[in-house]
Amino acid sequence: MEKIVINGGKRLVGSVRISGAKNAAVAILPAVLLADSPCRIENLPNISDVSAIYKVLSALGAKVKVIDSATVEIDPTGVDSFIVTQDMAKGMRASSYFLGALLGRMQHARVAPPGGCDFGVRPIDQHIKGFEALGAKVTIENGMVDAKAQRLGGCSIYLDVVSVGATINIMLAATKVRGMTVIENAAREPHIVDLANFLNSMGANIMGAGTNIIKIRGVEHLEGTTYSIIPDQIEAGTYLAAAAATKGDITITNVTPKHLESILSKLAEMGAEIEQFDEAVRIKMDKRPRRCNVKTMPHPGFPTDMQPQIATMLTLCEGTSIVTEGVWDNRFRYVDQLTLMGADIQVDGKMAVITGVEKLTSAPVKATDLRAGAAMIIAGLMAEGTTEITDIGHIDRGYEDVVQKFSSLGGDIKRVTYFEGGEILKAE
Ligand code: EPU
Repeated sequence: MEKIVINGGKRLVGSVRISGAKNAAVAILPAVLLADSPCRIENLPNISDVSAIYKVLSALGAKVKVIDSATVEIDPTGVDSFIVTQDMAKGMRASSYFLGALLGRMQHARVAPPGGCDFGVRPIDQHIKGFEALGAKVTIENGMVDAKAQRLGGCSIYLDVVSVGATINIMLAATKVRGMTVIENAAREPHIVDLANFLNSMGANIMGAGTNIIKIRGVEHLEGTTYSIIPDQIEAGTYLAAAAATKGDITITNVTPKHLESILSKLAEMGAEIEQFDEAVRIKMDKRPRRCNVKTMPHPGFPTDMQPQIATMLTLCEGTSIVTEGVWDNRFRYVDQLTLMGADIQVDGKMAVITGVEKLTSAPVKATDLRAGAAMIIAGLMAEGTTEITDIGHIDRGYEDVVQKFSSLGGDIKRVTYFEGGEILKAE
């Protein structure tokens, strides 16, 4: 098994390149199934969620040629299966996108329910409502979701909750149907716009992505294309928060500053100095964070996927801060880990009250999910002493070369292979 070991207290200084967006990649790769010829996708993040999707695509019959760690060529013309089994889907939240993509391609999809991060119940009722409105019959049998249609047709769908996944899945299923589909109360995240741009570059006719009404006029064919994925706003935000938390001075490159607005304004409120360039952002901080309140909301609000990282920074703030989770029911499981390191946090339902302390001290902690794992890295970098983080497979799902990137900024961080009994085998 592997763990991450951090000797805290070093300022992060320097420059780091941000990878392509995980949540765009996990939508765009299944979307390739809608094409009638090969696609080349660039700026992909080299993370385990992406390799898991390559495996599913191959198992379905696509030819997947990995050109380098950021580039893949996929020929979907040989795909002849509509089934994604439990074994193929495990550990990957985005398996549900194969429902929309296969339904759109073959009018039939049978997919095991998604894995991914555990924040309490993760329903897919809005996805199902969308598929049914398009004319599919959806059943759940033997642990598999089955969606099947004689013929799909355009429709109007109002989402009862703003859901990234449902918006994406309905777009995938509706791109090649007859007629016009309208999604109201759609999610507006940058990765939704990226998926629409990708599909449109293949000949789809999708309007309004990035607003809360998306209109999809069905087309018959999509031609393969070459497409470069947007930078990862959450990876970017994670490095910015880590730099500010260690009173550092870093520049993140290969980013779209517009996608970072809500994160940058919160960091500025906490006292960070921020400079924006065309495709880079510099952050500098030389004091304890000022207290502030944060409420997560769908885009353009403050992203829930940055909540654990910002809450970790606030453990050292002057005064008391309130962090309210507005998207997920249970996204404070990591708080127990921070408490082990000396943080003073009281959680009441979807609210955490954080009273700033002078310092964090090291402890053995777990990555309870992907972003919680990123938060543990930030906590380890801030803390006095040596912090060990286990269950790091969660972190590898979404952060490319996380140890190398933090090391290059001056963090004292390494990945260690160990036996259950504790003996170290190899450190890198
Ligand atoms: N919801 C429903 N019914 C549905 C779908 C969602 O009630 O059919 C609820 C959820 O329970 C939740 C809210 O709607 O309370 C939002 O869920 P959403 O569908 O937007 O989340 P998702 O598509 O499952 C994506 C990201 C998550 C991110 C959320 C919110 C991917 C692969 N995952 O999940 O990212 O937290 O949107 O922005 O895009 C991460 O990257 O760490 C991560 C968890």
